[in-house]
Amino acid sequence: MLSNTTFLITGIADKHSLAMYVAKEIIRQGGKVVCTGLGVSPHHIGLSEKAKSFLTKNFEDFKQAVTEELGDSSVEILDVTLDENIASFARTLSDRNIKLNGLLHAIAMDKTIRNKEVKPLLDVTKEEFCDTMNVSAYSLIRLSHYLLKHKVLQPGASICSLSYIAAAKVTFHPYRNISIAKAALERITIELADELGRAHKIRVNAIRFSPYMGSKAGNATLNEKDVNTSDRMSPLGNAKPMDLAYEIVHLFRPELAITGEIRHVDGGYNITG
Ligand SMILES: NC(=O)c1ccc[n+]([C@@H]2O[C@H](COP(=O)([O-])OP(=O)(O)OC[C@H]3O[C@@H](n4cnc5c(N)ncnc54)[C@H](O)[C@@H]3O)[C@@H](O)[C@H]2O)c1
Repeated sequence: MLSNTTFLITGIADKHSLAMYVAKEIIRQGGKVVCTGLGVSPHHIGLSEKAKSFLTKNFEDFKQAVTEELGDSSVEILDVTLDENIASFARTLSDRNIKLNGLLHAIAMDKTIRNKEVKPLLDVTKEEFCDTMNVSAYSLIRLSHYLLKHKVLQPGASICSLSYIAAAKVTFHPYRNISIAKAALERITIELADELGRAHKIRVNAIRFSPYMGSKAGNATLNEKDVNTSDRMSPLGNAKPMDLAYEIVHLFRPELAITGEIRHVDGGYNITG
C-alpha cells in the first residue's frame, strides 16, 4: 500500500519509542523511512562533556535500534533546538534527491517533570516554558519550513504529530507545562493544515494517544498507577503502540482527504467524564 513512498520518522530514541512502531509498519507496507535521532552535530557549539556524552550515547542507542529493527534505513542527526541543524538536514536530503511523502513528528521534552514529579505551573520559569514549547511544538513549523524550502516534502504529503488528551483537558494526572505545548502543537496542526493544504495539498493531522510507559519519555513521566487508571476508565482499555501505528499509516496513505484532525487513539478515554 505504501510502495514508492518515503517518510521521515523523528523521535526514535530506542526500539520502544512510539515512532519505531510507525516506522516498522511503514516498511511492512512497502514504504521507506529516513530516521532522525538526537546526537552531536557540527552545529552544537560549546557543549559540556556531560551533554556531549549524553548526545553521543543517545545517537548510538538510536542507530543500533534502527539497524536491529529497520535494517539499512538511513539515519541522520537532528536536534530541533538548532535551526542550522534543521536547515542542513533538509539540505542533505535535497542533495541526495530524497523526496518525502510525509513526516512523523514524535518529539517532546519537558524538564519540569523530574522523577515523575510535575512542577506547578506557577513555578515554571520562562526558559523552561520556552524550551518545552520550542522542542515540542514550534519544531513542527520549523521542520516543515525547511523541508518545503528545499523541496524535499512533496505536494500531497502527509504530516502527523503525536499529542495527548492533556492538550485539552485537565486529567487525573495533570501535566501542566507540557500540556500547554501540546495545545500549541494541536493549534499548529490546524493552522498548518489550512496553509499547507491550500498551497501544496499537504495534509496535517495530530493524534492523541493513550499513556504508554514503554518509551523513555513515557517511563520518565508516567507511573503505573496512572496508566492503570486510564486503562480502567477507557471503554476499550489503553490503546497499544500498534493501534497508533495503524492509524498513522492510514493517515499517510496518498490521496486521503483528511486534514486538520485531532484524532484519538486512546481506547475511548476521551469520551469518559
Ligand atoms: N508515552 C506516552 O505516554 C505518550 C502519549 C501520548 C503522546 N506521546 C508523544 O509521543 C511522542 C514520542 O514519545 P515516546 O513516548 O515515543 O517517547 P521517546 O522518549 O521514545 O521519544 C521522544 C523523542 O523526542 C526526542 N527529542 C527530545 N528532544 C529533542 C530535540 N531537541 N531534537 C530532536 N528530538 C528530540 C527524543 O530523542 C526521543 O526520541 C512525544 O511527542 C510524546 O509526547 C507519548
